[in-house]
Amino acid sequence: MSEVVVQTEHLLRRVESGDTMATIVNGIDLTVYEGEFLAITGPSGSGKSSLLYLIGLLDAPTAGDVHICGQATSAMSESERADMRLAKLGFVFQFHFLLPEFTALENVMLPMRTLGKLSMAEMREKGTKLLTALGLGDQVNRKPGQLSGGQRQRVAIARALSNDPAIIIADEPTGALDTIATDQVFKILRDVANSGRTVIVVTHDVKLAAKADRRVNVVDGKISEIVVNEAAKAPAPATN
Ligand SMILES: Nc1ncnc2c1ncn2[C@@H]1O[C@H](COP(=O)(O)OP(=O)(O)OP(=O)(O)O)[C@@H](O)[C@H]1O
Ligand SMILES: [Mg+2]
Repeated sequence: MSEVVVQTEHLLRRVESGDTMATIVNGIDLTVYEGEFLAITGPSGSGKSSLLYLIGLLDAPTAGDVHICGQATSAMSESERADMRLAKLGFVFQFHFLLPEFTALENVMLPMRTLGKLSMAEMREKGTKLLTALGLGDQVNRKPGQLSGGQRQRVAIARALSNDPAIIIADEPTGALDTIATDQVFKILRDVANSGRTVIVVTHDVKLAAKADRRVNVVDGKISEIVVNEAAKAPAPATN
């Protein structure tokens, strides 16, 4: 059995909605394993992003807890949560949020610079390797405006991977991409999970979600269904 990387306990998030309070994440218990590719699906407004932001320590729960690599986080200070985010989590969003005045390589180096563990030469080397692995070896010095949507999203994935996080969190990472780029990005996320990282991806697209190891469907802030896809990780059958 692989190691538990994310565990949520009775996770609850309530927010002000006009004069009343609305419960947007309503008691979610979810365990995610090392190397697992997990998809979160559900109707618009069902609480997928809210759940993802709680798991990513970008929002704090009203009640309940998120354990990241065995550590409870709800009692942490904001700076401890920020340190945890930087060391353990990588983020990919629907829109790439790359800095337009920086090159692809400089964008990928940003989280490494913030973490501050590598020399400039080491960061350049690592960033170049990551971009090359994602098929962007000849684009390292281009700025986001000179790249296609799919290329930009691959730079964003390289940036998310730059500090070797245990967990990649992606909110509709293919929402703004065409079919070819969507397939590329999903294949990359699959490879990332196969390399031992945990990938949690929110998507509207049930066909894409079917490529994950497990799909969790969220309705009204609660898990309505969990579908396990035993075949997802299995090697392709021999053809002879
Ligand atoms: N900070 C907030 N304050 C008030 N309401 C919020 C807040 N964040 C989210 N909501 C509400 O909570 C509900 C869940 O939102 P969320 O963004 O998690 O849904 P979603 O499943 O990601 O939807 P979509 O598929 O459209 O992205 C929605 O009704 C939304 O309007
Ligand atoms: Mg959303």
